[in-house]
Amino acid sequence: MNFQIGLIPGDGIGPEIVREAKKVLDKVCEVYGHTFTYTELLLGGASIDAHGVPLTEETISEAKSKDAVLMGSIGGDAKTSPWYQLEPSKRPEAGLLGIRKALNLFANLRPAYLYKELQAACPLREDIIGDGFDMMIMRELTGGLYFGERKTVEENGVRKAIDTLTYDEHEIRRIAKRAFDIARKRRGKVTSVDKANVLDSSRLWRAVVDEVAGDYPDVTLEHMLVDNCAMQLVRDPKQFDVILTENMFGDILSDEASMVTGSIGMLSSASLNETKFGLYEPSHGSAPDIAGQDKANPIATILSAAMMLRYSLDLDEEAGAVEAAVQKVLTEGYRTGDIMSQGCTLVGTGKMGDLIAEAITR
Ligand code: IPM
Ligand code: MG
Repeated sequence: MNFQIGLIPGDGIGPEIVREAKKVLDKVCEVYGHTFTYTELLLGGASIDAHGVPLTEETISEAKSKDAVLMGSIGGDAKTSPWYQLEPSKRPEAGLLGIRKALNLFANLRPAYLYKELQAACPLREDIIGDGFDMMIMRELTGGLYFGERKTVEENGVRKAIDTLTYDEHEIRRIAKRAFDIARKRRGKVTSVDKANVLDSSRLWRAVVDEVAGDYPDVTLEHMLVDNCAMQLVRDPKQFDVILTENMFGDILSDEASMVTGSIGMLSSASLNETKFGLYEPSHGSAPDIAGQDKANPIATILSAAMMLRYSLDLDEEAGAVEAAVQKVLTEGYRTGDIMSQGCTLVGTGKMGDLIAEAITR
């Protein structure tokens, strides 16, 4: 089949990890007889350097015209990069938030799965790890604190900053439905995470999630306060199947969940709207400190490409082949620095991509 794919290499380690994911996709095309046509799009710092802004109308309209977009990472070192001399709305991160909003990518799926092979990289004790864990964080991505009104003012000589957390019931309902749909295909449990003991937005969240749950009698729903969830993720991560939560809590909890899988370098993500279209990106950042050194772990991006095959292109078998190839290379003992442990073979970004591409079979 033929597909049009947008590629956003972005900043920092972005270009090198996207290159490896493309290598793997090229192999998928060769083995399964597909043709993917790629168009490179600018976002973040790369777009600032070319156009003075982190997101252009051209990138938005090009992205909209594709079947899916695969992204690396955006942003630089806030202390040294000239991008951070710009006002906040012109910095690289504003481009990422802008494209999420412009494409209405409200559902962010972040799977956190512990590969048996990576148990040594997991900071938790063996008795806590048990048989491992496998959860899906469903993060609301286009509302909440990230998109509410914000400003910094001065009142009587005192500086004051205001961020606003808003959710309406439609925004909550559509993400909740996604979470229940996914839980149905997994182990049938949704943990909805909020701060309903303090926040009105969380009390509405809880009420709407309860309403949606009525349509899914086969799925178990539990509510959990976000502070407790942060604790439970390291106390007993096995208890989670689907974690449903708002934008900011999801940002924080997904980094925590990634670390218990061994490394944030393993955590993929899909950002979806109401259609088949999606933007796929690793959950980690641009790691400017190791950019261009062949040290970055490309697996999160490669697994994001697998999610793209599954969710946007309906190529389930091919997605499974990519995931199996990752599994095989880990079983064979190859590791990038972030997941390295004794007795394994340390490889760079490019070699890891080569090995995974070679392992793709029908
Ligand atoms: C993420 C990132 C972004 C976010 C940043 C780069 C704006 O941390 O995708 O988790 O906070 O959403
Ligand atoms: Mg984050």
